[in-house]
This record gives sequence, C-alpha cells and structure tokens, in this order.
Amino acid sequence: MKLFLLLLMTFLLSHETGADEIIGGEESKPHSRPYMAFLKIKTNHSQYYCGGFLIRRDFVMTAAHCAGDSIKVILGAHNVTKTEKTWQTFKVKHQFLHPEYNPYRYINDIMLLKLEEKAKLTMAVGTLPLPSTFNSVSPGKVCRATGWGMTGVTAPRSDTLQEVKLRLMDPINCKVYQVFDEKLQLCVGNPKSTKSAYKGDSGGPLMCSGVAQGIISYGQSNATPPSVFTRITHYRPWINQILKSN
Ligand SMILES: *[C@@H]1O[C@H](CO)[C@@H](O)[C@H](O)[C@H]1NC(C)=O
Ligand SMILES: *[C@@H]1O[C@H](CO)[C@@H](O)[C@H](O)[C@H]1NC(C)=O
Repeated sequence: MKLFLLLLMTFLLSHETGADEIIGGEESKPHSRPYMAFLKIKTNHSQYYCGGFLIRRDFVMTAAHCAGDSIKVILGAHNVTKTEKTWQTFKVKHQFLHPEYNPYRYINDIMLLKLEEKAKLTMAVGTLPLPSTFNSVSPGKVCRATGWGMTGVTAPRSDTLQEVKLRLMDPINCKVYQVFDEKLQLCVGNPKSTKSAYKGDSGGPLMCSGVAQGIISYGQSNATPPSVFTRITHYRPWINQILKSN
C-alpha cells in the first residue's frame, strides 16, 4: 500500500550508535532554506498544500501530483500560518506537468511552475541549483529533505519549516514498491530505522551537497521508510527544454 505524500509523511529514522548523520527532524533555522516554496493548490473539489523549490526567479519545481486548477506560491516563508514581511506571493501562470506523468504507476512525478512574475532575490528568497545529467548521487550518501509537513486540509501540520537528514538507499530496499524504477527514482530512508518522526510534504526537495537531487514523491501508507523521490538528473533534458523556451 503506497500513497503520494500529500498525506502525513513520517520518516522513522535510524538510531545507529555513533552515527553522526541521521538524527530526527528539526525546525529549520528561519529562512536558511530560501529556495523553499509553499504551494496552496485549489481544485474544483478541494484545497491542499505541497512543497516546492525555486530553481529560477520565475520557475518553481515540484511533484506532478501537486497539479491543480490553480496554484498560489509563497516564497520566503518560515511560519506559514502568519504573513511574514519576507513573503513574496505569486500566481502560477502555467503548470508544466511532465508529459509522461503517470499517477497509476507513480512515475515521472515532476512538474515545473512558471510564475506570473519574477521573484526578487533577498535574504529569504533564492534559487537552488540543479545537478547536471551526469552528476547523479550514489547509495550511502546522506541528504536532507525539507518541508512543512502538510497533511491535507484537516489534519495537523507543522507551522514552520522542518528538515531531516536521510540516507540514500540501494534500490533493492525499494522492492516493496513494485513500480519502483531506479532510472527514474531515488530510494531514500533507512528501513532499519526506529525512532523519531518527521513530517514532510510532496514536492519538496532532497538536497545533496547543495544541489537538488530529488523531489519527494511517495511512500508507504504506514510511513515506514524508505520512500521514493523523483530522480532529477534523469529529467534534465526535459527541464532544460522547458526553461529555455519559457
Ligand atoms: C474545474 O472546473 C472547470 C470549470 O468548470 C473545468 O474547466 C475544469 O476542467 C475542472 N477541473 C477538474 C480537475 O475537474
Ligand atoms: C506560527 O505562528 C502562529 C501565529 O502567530 C503562532 O500561533 C504559532 O505558535 C507559530 N508557530 C511556531 C511553531 O512558532
């Protein structure tokens, strides 16, 4: 049983003795992740939230399953329940879903949002670099996921941005997902992990050595790691083409 991580995504993290890497999720230092975007998505039937990240002054990257009838993007946010001076709010002019996005097979879960205007670069708003096609990451690497832990319309969530360190796993660990495809996806989070919870959100980035390598996509409904992230390097040609022609 798997589900897109629009719902509460809880990573159970590893408590390896002496490991200096995996700990628990924690609140980010305010505005220390200036590329983070908070997305308010409206469909005809409902409203929900996703994460995303600014990759160019007028483009936000997120998951394709965050598409809706209209999307509002908030940049420069830390506590999303109160308007902060650092906020910049944008309407989305166009949603570029990956043409081969398939919600039934959970693949190609990537989308680019063109903003109506360019964001101003400030202390609280900035872009996150993408890796080149050949700059892929390998299992064992410890990366960082960030999000507001959106849980849907009624469930509780975090007001403030949270982050957690997660280990990139060998693809064999994602065999629990029959549709997992290592060419298109990253397997993230140690299944042997035991404690400490983190609430993440769809569309947010997985950052490895300062570049965005993954987009939070889906996990198991009981939130047991690992979970699956879209592998950004695979999509560089498509991303480049959209950015170049828009
Ligand atoms: C929402 O409503 C509009 C206008 O009635 C319609 O064009 C659009 O296709 C609807 N979207 C969905 C996802 O049903
Ligand atoms: C976020 O802002 C709201 C409204 O001011 C406040 O009640 C809440 O405590 C804040 N959350 C955190 C985690 O600081």
